[in-house]
Amino acid sequence: MSVLVTGGAGYIGSATVELLLAKGENVVVLDNLSRGHRDAVSDGVPFYKGELRDQELVARIAREHAVDACVHFAAFAYVGESVTEPLRYFENNSAQGVAFLEALVQSGVKRIVFSSTCATYGEPRAMPMTEDHPQHPANPYGWTKFFMERILESCDRAYGLKFVALRYFNAAGAAGRCGEDHEPETHLIPNVLGAAGGRMPHVEVYGNDYATPDGTAVRDYIHISDLGSAHILALDYLAAGNPSDFFNLGTGRGHSVLEVIEAARRVTGKEIKIEFRPRRPGDPSHLVAGAAKAHAVLGWKPAFDSIDEIVRTAWQWQLNHPKGYAAA
Ligand SMILES: NC(=O)c1ccc[n+]([C@@H]2O[C@H](COP(=O)([O-])OP(=O)(O)OC[C@H]3O[C@@H](n4cnc5c(N)ncnc54)[C@H](O)[C@@H]3O)[C@@H](O)[C@H]2O)c1
Repeated sequence: MSVLVTGGAGYIGSATVELLLAKGENVVVLDNLSRGHRDAVSDGVPFYKGELRDQELVARIAREHAVDACVHFAAFAYVGESVTEPLRYFENNSAQGVAFLEALVQSGVKRIVFSSTCATYGEPRAMPMTEDHPQHPANPYGWTKFFMERILESCDRAYGLKFVALRYFNAAGAAGRCGEDHEPETHLIPNVLGAAGGRMPHVEVYGNDYATPDGTAVRDYIHISDLGSAHILALDYLAAGNPSDFFNLGTGRGHSVLEVIEAARRVTGKEIKIEFRPRRPGDPSHLVAGAAKAHAVLGWKPAFDSIDEIVRTAWQWQLNHPKGYAAA
């Protein structure tokens, strides 16, 4: 298979590229490096620095690499930033997404795996959240992904573009050369480890008055290798001629912020100072995946089932990359 990976220089995309290479697929990466790192992509992988909206470039890549399928990670992915800069998010994730899909369809590419998110559900009404949970996003980021899901459904009906939309919960951990290096960093685990490693004086915990056992928010942390393996299964599912569908990707188990910090203390052996802050708007108390559908239909089973092991991979990566990719 020849697979175009957009956002392949990003956190989850780069880990998926490594798995595709290990499986022997031909991979080509398109990324504008706005949030990704050239060093996250192995030498030898054809790499195009460019924008999703550059239809000439997308058509050229599809033609020159005889692209059969696409894994579409490229997007902005910070909830808070999407609240303060919604138009930038709608432009990048949805408007550029449409231009990109148009170029793919015109190039004859018929299969796509799309990075969606649990943020398309909005405020949880039932836990764990299954794929039929109502979707009403609580922030512009979630809406950009919700719109892309609807656009993909329309493209399937109109052009026969078959898709799998994977709704990830909280991506975490590191895999080989690939780790989390964002600026700014809004995700819990790299920030906790930043405090453990002395890069930050403390970790900020947003909200300790949620209706959870310890008052902090509960999330479902899924290792990036497990996310990557689900993309490969989704590509195989589409290649076998199966219909378009939506799948949650999570472990089905939640951990509170304080539990993650405890795990990081165990793994690193470091003291980690905490400062409590008010809740962030739009942050629900619990987000835990019902992932039975991905197990049953795709045959997916996450290999990492311990938060300590997930944190350990991230800590190891941070020790090997104290300045992130900048020092690579
Ligand atoms: N990290 C998570 O916990 C999480 C959870 C749910 C969904 N997702 C989704 O998964 C995908 C990957 O997330 P990530 O954490 O790896 O993010 P990331 O920011 O590390 O990776 C995204 C990549 O896309 C590139 N990019 C962004 N806009 C682009 C554009 N217009 N043209 C070309 N390249 C562009 C960036 O440079 C970056 O390398 C995103 O679509 C995100 O919304 C992530």
